[in-house]
Formats: sequence, structure tokens, C-alpha cells
Amino acid sequence: MSRRGVLRLFGAGAAAGGASLAVPSFASAAPATAAAPSAIPVPGDPQYWRKIEQLFVINRDVLFMNLGTVGSPPADVLSVLADTNTRVAQNTESAYSSFDDVRAVAAAGFGCDVDELGLTHNTSDGMAKTLVGLGLKVGDEILTTNHEHSGGNSPMAQLRDRTGVVITRVQVPVGNRQRAEDYVELFRKAITSKTKVLMFSAPTYKTGTMLPIQLLAKLAQEHGLTTLVDGAHIPGMMNYTFRELGVDFLAGSTAKWHCGPGGTGVLYARNKVLPQFNPNPLPEFWPSITSSYPDAGLPDRSTTSTASYDLGRYLTSLGNGSIALTSGVKKVLEMWDQIGRQRIEDHSVGLASYLKELVAERWGVGSLYSPKDDPRLLCALTSFNPFRNPADVMNSAKSAEFVSRMKSQYSITIRNVDFPVIGAAKPHVPVRISTHLFHREEHVERVVDAMWELSAQMA
Ligand SMILES: Cc1ncc(COP(=O)(O)O)c(C=O)c1O
Repeated sequence: MSRRGVLRLFGAGAAAGGASLAVPSFASAAPATAAAPSAIPVPGDPQYWRKIEQLFVINRDVLFMNLGTVGSPPADVLSVLADTNTRVAQNTESAYSSFDDVRAVAAAGFGCDVDELGLTHNTSDGMAKTLVGLGLKVGDEILTTNHEHSGGNSPMAQLRDRTGVVITRVQVPVGNRQRAEDYVELFRKAITSKTKVLMFSAPTYKTGTMLPIQLLAKLAQEHGLTTLVDGAHIPGMMNYTFRELGVDFLAGSTAKWHCGPGGTGVLYARNKVLPQFNPNPLPEFWPSITSSYPDAGLPDRSTTSTASYDLGRYLTSLGNGSIALTSGVKKVLEMWDQIGRQRIEDHSVGLASYLKELVAERWGVGSLYSPKDDPRLLCALTSFNPFRNPADVMNSAKSAEFVSRMKSQYSITIRNVDFPVIGAAKPHVPVRISTHLFHREEHVERVVDAMWELSAQMA
């Protein structure tokens, strides 16, 4: 297949995203000085992705390929933020609110009901709120991986030290020689009678491997385990219908791939029993960090397909919230729905597949830490070893220099990541590249050419 054919494989994708529910609230009130919204390009336009790029204010003198760390809000989102901040200041508005209108748009876009969706400050907030809310006791075990982020590791370590919860980690594989089923076997073998929670990142931020969420959720269901997914990179990148994943909790960011305002995220929490996705009873869960827990307590958790209360509300309301931030989130959610979540996924993951093909051609497929061939493990993050001498990937100073020279010599922002590799004496520190909706094939070719040249200079 031709190199560009790899990208075309992913097609234009169907427009996706449910209809948004318009419930008036603080966040949806029109700002007095609202500018006319930018026109979203029409699919089929030969300039389609160039016009998408024009929706963003991102500095085009630099090729930014680190969406996995932070996104860049579109101009219209910045206008909403500025206008709302001004309006709130002028009218001294407060918001002791659960932002139901914003949650309704988010729930429709992410494929769940509003009672299952909380607004958070970021992924780490959602992870901590979930872990602290599960009634885990001394000796209970969380089964996780050795490639987790501090957003999950930190609250788990605190549960270990404070409550006596046991943290067990499977060693995950790297590279192209892996299949989705490998993860099921890996976790299956590690489950014990003490295991209560399966927690994993999908994708991992280290190798950009999309762990097979549905298969792992099924495994967890068979063993009566609660599932928590660190899905930091899912919102805005992947067009998943959250409730179909069959998991109990999924924490994500709306400020990375979703390009919403900084300090925003979502937490999906299963709140009713839908047997087609997950027939198990709901786990014990306390919305611990909230300011609206009722004096009379909450009703029992539902055992049917009808929620017994709006859990998302308790996960969201915490004192006076930010009307501006939530308005910005609502705006960017609507923009993604308009562009089409499937179209964005196809484009971003398609560019990553193109990048992997180019990397395999130049450096060899063995240089990839991300999988390339199993479509169930793909996402828009790509990690690989850029060094001509492969052993240099264990030299963290050299890896840092590579990232820094990509910026200073080529005006390209990428990052590196460090992680243990099975059988390796030292951690590997490869580079990681994010491809997204404001990138095109020519950007992928540019970053590959630059890295190839730089790797020769640093050989
Ligand atoms: C897998 C993963 N989890 C959690 C986080 C933390 O994200 P946030 O800043 O949204 O809390 C990151 C950040 O890059 C991440 O990659």
C-alpha cells in the first residue's frame, strides 16, 4: 500500500455526535459582546483541513505536536471565555451550580446520560475523586500497569499508605508485536481473590498503546471487578460511546485533545445497570468531594436501567464554579459535534498511522514503541526511538537534547517519555508525537524529515 494510502484508508468518516440539549443556564447565556462564530468548513471541501486549522489561534511559526500534554483552544472558545469573564465581573454572578446544560451537551457528545457525567478540573481530578470514593478497605487490591501516569499513581499510593490497599502492576509490552488479546491474558493471569479494581490507561501516555477497553471491561465483569480507565487522551481524540465501553469509571481531559480551556475535564461514572453493556451491580461509590451531598443522604444505588439519582451533579458541584470555564467547555464540545467526532478520530489516528509507516521505512519497525498493525490498539500518539544507535534511547540527557534541538533547529514541539521496558536494564526514553485535527500529511512528513536529519547530526 502507498504511504499516503494508509491515511486514505481511514476515510472521511461519518459525522457523529448527538444532538445537544439546550437547557438555559448561567453557562449558556449569550454574552453581550458575542462575536459571530467562525464558519465550520463543509466536508468535501478540498481545503477542509486547512480551514479547520484556521479555527485555531495556535502559533503557526512552530509546528506543535504535543497535544498529549496540552491542547490549544479555538478562537471561538477564547471569545466565549473572554466575554463570559467580562459579563460575570460586570454582573458579579456566582455559580453554585452543577452546570446541567454543559453536562447535557457533554453527555450527548460522549455517549452517556447526564446523570453519568461529571465536570472536573482535569483527568487527575477525576482519577482522585474516583479512587477516594470507592469503598476500598485494607487488603483490597488494585490491579494496574507499570505505565501509569502520576494522575492515577498518586491517589493509588495514598490509598496504599492510608488505607492498606495493595497495588499490583502487570508489566505491559511495547512495540508493534502485540495484540489486544495479549492484554486480556496479562490481566487475567494477575487477578487474585483480593483484586477489587482494574485500573489502566487507555491509551498509555508512554507508548500511545490504546489498551482494549471493552475486552478488559468484559474480563473485569467476569471477575466482579470495578473498572477505572485513565482516559486522559480519549475526549476529543476518540469517538467513543462511553457507556458501551462497559466500564464503571472513565476520567478524561477536555483541555488536551479536546482543546477546551485549561483546568477542565470530565468523569464518566456508571450510574445504572444496562445489561447489554455491563450487567454487574453498581460498585459502592461515595461522591466524596462535593458540596451538595444531601443531609438526608442519597438513595440506594440503582439496580435497574433507571438511575436513582443524578451522580454527575454531585461529582460536579463544588462551591462556586467557573461560569467562564464551563461556557468554554460547552462551546468546544459543540464545535467537535459540528466537525464530527468520528471525522476527527479518523484524521488524527490516520495521520499517526502514516507517521508510523514513515518511521518504519526510515528507522525500521523495531524503533516503534507504539503498535502499528492491530487496529484495536491504535490512537493518535506515536512513540519511537529516533536514534541511529538504538542504545542511545536509554540516555535520558541525549533524549532531552533531541527534543530541545527539534524546537531550536526546526521549530517543532514534541516531547519525550520514559518508561520501563521488559528485559531492559534501564528505562527507555523515546520521543512522542501527537497528530491532530490541525495537522496534515505535510506536517507528518516535515517532522519525520527533521528527526531523520537531527538523528544523523546526533549519531
Ligand atoms: C495518561 C494520563 N493520565 C493523566 C494525565 C494528567 O492529565 P490532566 O492534566 O488532565 O490531569 C495525563 C497527562 O498527560 C496522562 O497522559
